[in-house]
Amino acid sequence: MQIVSIKIKNYRVFESLEIKNIPAFCVIIGANGTGKSTLFDIFGFLRDALKNNIRQALQVRGGFDEVVTRGKKEEDIEIELKFRMKIVDTERLVTYQLIIGKEQKRPVIKREILRYKRGEYGSPYHFLDFRKGQVYVITNEENFEQTDEELEREEQQLESQDILAIKGLGQFQRFKAKLFNVLNLTPNL
Ligand SMILES: Nc1ncnc2c1ncn2[C@@H]1O[C@H](COP(=O)(O)OP(=O)(O)O)[C@@H](O)[C@H]1O
Ligand SMILES: [Mg+2]
Repeated sequence: MQIVSIKIKNYRVFESLEIKNIPAFCVIIGANGTGKSTLFDIFGFLRDALKNNIRQALQVRGGFDEVVTRGKKEEDIEIELKFRMKIVDTERLVTYQLIIGKEQKRPVIKREILRYKRGEYGSPYHFLDFRKGQVYVITNEENFEQTDEELEREEQQLESQDILAIKGLGQFQRFKAKLFNVLNLTPNL
């Protein structure tokens, strides 16, 4: 599993950042205060969020207001990772997107999406889509013989608005373990 692109909005110094075509070996250089540590902290943030929840991940970093880009307190924090991952013997380009906002003074997950292209053609297919307390998941995802129309979509309820769906839902344990593995290999500078 290899991370190929990162897109960030309103995470500390990164009001808007996109890094594409990340090679397997990559060196980050820049003057002091340009965001090198912050870039790696994004992996640390996701790791903490997966291990615990987003509230804890924010708290150890000073809270939502400290982490969100200065002057953007009313906006959401967005993190999007694209990575290659083997799903049923085939390498796929998977997108994981997370939008965190503040509601009634508490940090909440506003949207969490996991999607990838099922075939060579066609637009990316969502297999997890969490929005406003509801999560839609595809339950027979790994059956690639089925057309998109035949996929079984199920609505599930999450325990808490600050626990990631990929952590809270049993069928994503395998995915979570893989993502966690990649995040663990990424050093904290
Ligand atoms: N919430 C925030 N909004 C905007 N800038 C921030 C925020 N939090 C930290 N910063 C700034 O980000 C910079 C720190 O970047 P850092 O990742 O430590 O840089 P480097 O590791 O390249 O030296 C500092 O200039 C700091 O003021
Ligand atoms: Mg640094």
